[in-house]
Amino acid sequence: MLRVIDNLIVREKLTTIRCRGIDPASFRRGVTDIGRYMAYEFADTLKWREVEVETPLGTASGVEITDRDRIVLLSILRASLPFTEGVMKVFPEAEHGIIGARRSDDPPFRVSIDYIRVPDLDDKILVIADPMLATGNTMIGILEALEAHGSPARTVVFNIISSRMGLERVLQRGIDVYTCGVEEEVNDMGYIVPGLGDAGDLAFG
Ligand code: PRP
Repeated sequence: MLRVIDNLIVREKLTTIRCRGIDPASFRRGVTDIGRYMAYEFADTLKWREVEVETPLGTASGVEITDRDRIVLLSILRASLPFTEGVMKVFPEAEHGIIGARRSDDPPFRVSIDYIRVPDLDDKILVIADPMLATGNTMIGILEALEAHGSPARTVVFNIISSRMGLERVLQRGIDVYTCGVEEEVNDMGYIVPGLGDAGDLAFG
């Protein structure tokens, strides 16, 4: 399932963070805001139940998201850190895994994973947040590395910009993808065009 977030506020934030010359603090803030909004959209797909709540003046009907305690959020060093920060604002009780992945600067852009610390993923709802999906090598490498850590009931990828090529590789695995934009071109340097540049450098210098 592919969900392209076309909310006007998100489109405006995406426009802001793609602007050449944006400073790191503004870039991180924009990415965090998008992470939070994406988490709101995703939350609509979670299981919930009706509950009653005592207000100061009576009883009202309400909801409780029963899937909350099944969520595992995965950060990928480096660029995903401000993105997952936004998601964590919506799911503060989620378990959290960290992966260190580095894509080489030259074709074929192989990925090395040098750090992996994740909770047991059996029957969990796994949310992997990475702002950019370009060749897809990083995400495929991560998905393969995670196979040794259990079988999630559901895996969801959050991107800010996804290339068509990367998207097809991930969707083929039956994984849901939330993104703010799908773009056709990945250039010889492995960057999405027009994309937004190197998200890790933009966020952290
Ligand atoms: C960026 C981005 C993704 C990856 C996407 O990370 O955050 O993880 O590239 O590219 P791919 O789909 O072609 O694999 P990068 O390797 O630049 O690391 P960084 O976050 O530390 O800058």
